[in-house]
Amino acid sequence: MKAGYSLTQIGLHWLVALLVPVQYLTGGSIERTHHAVHMGMTPSHWDVVQHHLHNYAGMAIGLLMGIRLALRIIQPPQTRPSGTWAGRVAAVLHHAFYAAIIAQACMGFVASYFWFGIAQYHVVGSRIILGMVALHLAAAAWHTLIARDETVDRMVFPRRKRSAQEL
Ligand code: HEM
Ligand code: HEM
Repeated sequence: MKAGYSLTQIGLHWLVALLVPVQYLTGGSIERTHHAVHMGMTPSHWDVVQHHLHNYAGMAIGLLMGIRLALRIIQPPQTRPSGTWAGRVAAVLHHAFYAAIIAQACMGFVASYFWFGIAQYHVVGSRIILGMVALHLAAAAWHTLIARDETVDRMVFPRRKRSAQEL
C-alpha cells in the first residue's frame, strides 16, 4: 500500500465536499416547486433553477463518488496503522460515506425520474448524511487541534512517489 492519497483522489474529495452543501441549500426548492404545480400555480423561477441544480449536482456527486470508490479499490490509501480502534471507526465511517452518498444520489434520481415514492427515504438519507458529515468534521478538527497529527495533511498534499530504494 502507498501512504496517503493521489492528487486525483484529493481533488475529487474536495470537489464532492464543495458540492454536498449545494444539495442542502437547494433541496427545499423541490417541495416548493411541486407544491406550486399541484396548486395550479407557476413555480418561482429561482425554485425551478435550484431544482435543476439539485438534480444535476446530485448526479455529478454520485458519479464522482463512484469514480472515487473505483480509484480507492485500485489505489488503496494507507491511512493509519490498522488494528487501532480509531482506525477501525474511521474505516467504517469512510466506507459508509461511499455507500450513503451513492445510495442517496441513486434514490434522488429514481424519485425525480421514475418513482416519487422513494423520496421519503431520500429525505431520511439527507439527515443521516448530515450526521455523518458532522462526525467527519469533528474527527478532522480533533486530528488537527488535539492529536495534531498528519491526517488532514494527507487530504491536502498528494502522496509522494516512492523511490526505487523504498520499494
Ligand atoms: C448525494 C447527493 C444528494 C444529496 C446530499 C441530496 C440532499 C437532499 C436534501 C437535503 C433534500 C431536501 C430534503 C428535505 O425536504 O428536508 C433533497 C430533496 C430532494 N432531492 Fe436530493 N440530494 C442528492 C441527490 C439528488 C439527486 C441526484 C436527485 C435527482 C436526480 C435528487 C432529487 C431530490 C428530490 C426529488 C427531492 C425532493 C424530495 C421531497 O421533497 O420529498 N437529489 N435532497
Ligand atoms: C460532505 C462532504 C465530505 C464527504 C462526502 C467526505 C468523504 C470522505 C471520504 C469517503 C473519505 C475517505 C477517503 C478514502 O479513504 O477513500 C474522506 C477522507 C477525509 N476527509 Fe472527507 N469528506 C467530506 C468533507 C470533508 C471536509 C469538509 C473535511 C475537512 C475538514 C474533510 C477531511 C477529510 C480528511 C482529512 C480525510 C482523510 C482521512 C484519513 O486519511 O484518515 N472531509 N472524506
